[in-house]
Amino acid sequence: MYKLIAFDAYGTLFDVYSMGQLAEELFPGHGQALSLMWRDRQIEYTRLVTMSDPNPNGSKYYLPFWELTIRSLRYVCKRLDLPLSPEHEKRLMDQYAKLTGFEDSQSVLKAIKDKGISTAILSNGSREMLATVVESNGLKPYLDKVVTIEDVRLFKTAPQAYELLLKAFPVKKEEILFVSSNAWDALAAKWFGFDVFWVNRLNHPFEEIGEKPDYEGKSLTEVLGVI
Ligand code: LAC
Repeated sequence: MYKLIAFDAYGTLFDVYSMGQLAEELFPGHGQALSLMWRDRQIEYTRLVTMSDPNPNGSKYYLPFWELTIRSLRYVCKRLDLPLSPEHEKRLMDQYAKLTGFEDSQSVLKAIKDKGISTAILSNGSREMLATVVESNGLKPYLDKVVTIEDVRLFKTAPQAYELLLKAFPVKKEEILFVSSNAWDALAAKWFGFDVFWVNRLNHPFEEIGEKPDYEGKSLTEVLGVI
């Protein structure tokens, strides 16, 4: 029944918390805190930019996700009192550019394509960083489109961001299944009108506001059970 399965990128197909290992190597004893706070601050910045100027032509405060990722790293290192040298920053960002995909990312995308269903990424990521991480994980052959919010300069959870999928594919809202491991992203996509699958790898509670996701599973592989 679904004609398009659209995936969030960071956290869903690619493991943002894998950064913790390198962070721990560079700043022993702080790797986990750094990677958690880094992710939170990065998303915080996307919201700040979007909410402070939710103009349909794009926020005047817009900065590419890549840039927000660097700025949030700098902020968190200052906050934790960790000396971030230019070399540290480069090593962390080089690894971020080629973030490790979850082990089932490729097989799941391939299985969906084999069923004749379209696949896409819809991400806050900037075009170039998405192209790099998709390429380095060998996912390119299994994705029909990589859709970035760069086109609207408003980050998720702005409705204009989710709407990009309807512009990119000739499908109706109800023919799309949106897959995210970020509960806030799954909820906002649900509010927008998509059916959603929440990948809950860490057995977290869902958000305490809004509707529950249509489906929930512990891995991307479980998505195959509902299509
Ligand atoms: C993304 C972030 C939200 O890829 O994970 O859009």
